Amino acid sequence: MLYDRRTHRDFTRTPVSLNTLATLLSTVFGPVDFIDSGHGPVYRRTSPSGGSRQELDAYLGALNVDGLAPGWYHYNSLQHSVELLCDGFTPEEAAHLCADQDWAGDAAFLVVLAARLERMSVKYHTPRCYRVCLLNAGHLGQTFALTATALGLGPAQTGAFRDAALAQRCTLNNTGHTPLYVLAAGRPHPQPHEAPPPATLDAFRKAPLEAAASPSPGVPALNDKHSRFPQAPPQPA
Ligand SMILES: Cc1cc2nc3c(=O)[nH]c(=O)nc-3n(C[C@H](O)[C@H](O)[C@H](O)COP(=O)(O)O)c2cc1C
Repeated sequence: MLYDRRTHRDFTRTPVSLNTLATLLSTVFGPVDFIDSGHGPVYRRTSPSGGSRQELDAYLGALNVDGLAPGWYHYNSLQHSVELLCDGFTPEEAAHLCADQDWAGDAAFLVVLAARLERMSVKYHTPRCYRVCLLNAGHLGQTFALTATALGLGPAQTGAFRDAALAQRCTLNNTGHTPLYVLAAGRPHPQPHEAPPPATLDAFRKAPLEAAASPSPGVPALNDKHSRFPQAPPQPA
């Protein structure tokens, strides 16, 4: 699955089934079990969570999901249900919200990871807790991408979005409760056009891999003969 994952920007118009979406959301955001954090019970997810505060909520922008009307929803991860926030969501709006990236409008749905900052700050009285929220969002993003891939979906993600407009759509105040990361998925196009092409010899001539892999002087490149990194494992055909 790790080697099959890639960022998709080309999707077919085939809708994603509600069942597939439900499996994805519960696997990534649902509770695994509950632990006693010393500040009351908290739940664990399939991703680690710095501070175990589960401060990140998932908001769903449904575009092309069989059995779910286009609109904005909050995913209630403890009840495994979606709560309608507002009706209607169009591909044009999805692209606009994602800083005019057209592929976002072709996805079957977006998932906005939004942080309830107070859930962190009540335990950690330091600005560093914001950094941990960002790290936690990255973990959930990777679990989302791998789970979507396993379900036959094409995952995507973006850090480029219109904060205030997106917050408004998700009914967030954008201060204490704010979007951090936008994930997306859809049925992958069998012949993607938007994917970067494989690097040719010319691309390697323009910028040798050593330079790309080791931008700082003195730091061994990944393929340096003194590197401590083992050879990359062969990829499946
Ligand atoms: C935090 C983050 C933000 C990203 N933002 C965008 C984006 O705004 N637009 C986009 O097309 N791809 C975006 N990507 C996808 C990267 O371009 C992609 O992961 C990279 O080219 C490597 O390709 P791969 O994911 O297929 O391995 C983002 C990836 C990450 C992890």
